[in-house]
Amino acid sequence: MSSLEVNKILAAIIMAVLIVFLISNIGDYLVNPNKDSNTKTAYNVEITESTATEENKDTSEIEIESILTLLASASLEKGEKTYKKCGSCHSYTKDGKNKVGPNLWNIVNRPKANVDGFAYSGALAEFGGVWGYEELSKFLYKPKDYIKGTKMNFAGLKKAEDRANLILFMREQSDNPVPLP
Ligand code: HEC
Repeated sequence: MSSLEVNKILAAIIMAVLIVFLISNIGDYLVNPNKDSNTKTAYNVEITESTATEENKDTSEIEIESILTLLASASLEKGEKTYKKCGSCHSYTKDGKNKVGPNLWNIVNRPKANVDGFAYSGALAEFGGVWGYEELSKFLYKPKDYIKGTKMNFAGLKKAEDRANLILFMREQSDNPVPLP
């Protein structure tokens, strides 16, 4: 074999290696797969509190949005509308009868489970404390998470605004409404 032929063979091998290398990398040059790895995605997909999947989540580790600052701008009218979700089980008038659930007259700051003649679940009867604004809000977010074993069958109000409107409305159902926070 002449040295010229050896050179040709070597050149061919080098060309082949180069071509394979180029082909395998050209795609990456055109579309850099790592380009976006350190940058944020263009838009955030916000999962709203009311999405269906959220309903089934254990909320004990979820930060429930406080309603205290929302109360000042909450709407009584909207609260009354939201109350329709409760009305089938609760009356809210003074001396209103217990239904499936206890009467809710004067509920803000009322001791828990203190309506005479209503058969509370053991879980609620033993829970203790009063229904302050935040307690009501947390309970209404998802009753069965706040009081495990409660017999109140209600999925919950996931929107802080809905809870604020409703609790503002409930606060009015009293001879002497508790001061706003
Ligand atoms: C399907 C019927 C039902 C619906 C709807 C319902 N509740 Fe209840 N609620 C109950 C029952 C039953 C209890 C008693 C729970 C227990 O003893 O564990 C209760 C208890 C409560 C208590 C505690 C009262 C106390 O004396 O300690 C509050 C506050 C309350 N509900 C508010 C609401 C609000 C506000 C809504 C609407 C957003 C609502 N509930 C919707 C059935 C219902």
